[in-house]
Amino acid sequence: MHILTKKLFPLTFAWTWYEAAVDATQLRRAIARTPLAPVAAFPKRLARVARHDAKVLRASARWLVTSREHHNYTYELTKLSRHHLTWFVSVVCDIPVKQVRGYVAEIESDDVLRRHIEQATATAARRGLADKKVRYARRVGWYAFVRATRPGHIVETGVDKGLGSVVLASALLRNAQEGHPGRVTSLDINPEAGYLARVAPWSEVVDLVIGDSIASIGALDRPVDLFLHDSDHSRAHEKREFDAVEPKLAPGAILLTDNVTSTNVLAEHAERTGRRFLAYRESPANHWYPGDGIGVAW
Ligand SMILES: C[S@@+](CC[C@H](N)C(=O)[O-])C[C@H]1O[C@@H](n2cnc3c(N)ncnc32)[C@H](O)[C@@H]1O
Repeated sequence: MHILTKKLFPLTFAWTWYEAAVDATQLRRAIARTPLAPVAAFPKRLARVARHDAKVLRASARWLVTSREHHNYTYELTKLSRHHLTWFVSVVCDIPVKQVRGYVAEIESDDVLRRHIEQATATAARRGLADKKVRYARRVGWYAFVRATRPGHIVETGVDKGLGSVVLASALLRNAQEGHPGRVTSLDINPEAGYLARVAPWSEVVDLVIGDSIASIGALDRPVDLFLHDSDHSRAHEKREFDAVEPKLAPGAILLTDNVTSTNVLAEHAERTGRRFLAYRESPANHWYPGDGIGVAW
C-alpha cells in the first residue's frame, strides 16, 4: 500500500498540475475576449519592456564609462548581423557567400592595419575622443564590396578619422597585389579629417580632398566605379551628392549610402535611374546605439 502510494503520488501530482495549466490557459483565453484583456496583459507587457530597457540602460552605462567616442561610434556586429552582411554582399555582387566570408576574414585578420589604427589613434591630437579598440562594424561590408568588384576608382564622402578610408584602401592594396589596382578619393569638409589614412601604405592609394563634398564631386576628373555617401547625413545633402555624382559614374557603377536607416534617398535615386536597390541594417553587439546600415544601388 505504501509502495503504491509512492508510485501514484507523482502521477497524481502531474495530473493535477496539467489540469491547473489547462484551466489557466482556458481562463487566459476567456479573459482575452473580455474588456479586462488590456489590464490582464499589462504585467506581462511591463516585464517585457522593462527587460528590454534594462538591457539598453546597462549597455549605455557601460559605454559612458568605457568609451570616449562622441559620434561616429564603433562597435562589433552581432554574429547574426555579420552573417546577414555576408549574404547581402554575396547577393548584390552575385558571388558565393563563402568568397565574401573569406574577404571579411581577410580584413579582420589584418594585424598590420589593426596595429596602425591602434598606434595612430593613441598618438592623435584628438585621442581623447577615440577608442583604442579597433572595431569596423559594417565597414567590413564595404571592404568585401571592393574586393568583390575591384573598382578602379572609389569616392567616399565623409572621412572623419579615416577608418572607412583605410578599410577601403586595404581592399584596394589587396586588389593591386592581384593585378587590379585602384584608388580612393576621400572627401571631407574638415581639414583635420583622415589622420588614419595619411600613413603609408594606405596613403599611397588615398587621395584626401578637403572641401564641401558637392564641390569636390563636381571637380572629379575620373569616372567613379564605387561611390559611398557618408558625409552630411541630412536628406537634402545626401540627395545633392547622388545627383552630383550621377554624370561622373562609370558604366555599371555601384552606389552605397551609410544613411539608409534614416532616408529613402538612394532607393528613390535607384528607381529614377533604373537601378536595383537593397538595404542591410546592422546590429551592434553590446552597444546602446541601434546601428546604421548599408544601402546599395546597382
Ligand atoms: C560619419 S563621419 C564619416 C565617417 C567615415 N566615413 C568612417 O568610415 O568612419 C561624417 C564626416 O562628414 C564630414 N562632412 C560633413 N559635412 C560635409 C560636407 N558638406 N562635405 C564633406 N564632408 C562633410 C564631417 O566632417 C565628418 O568627418
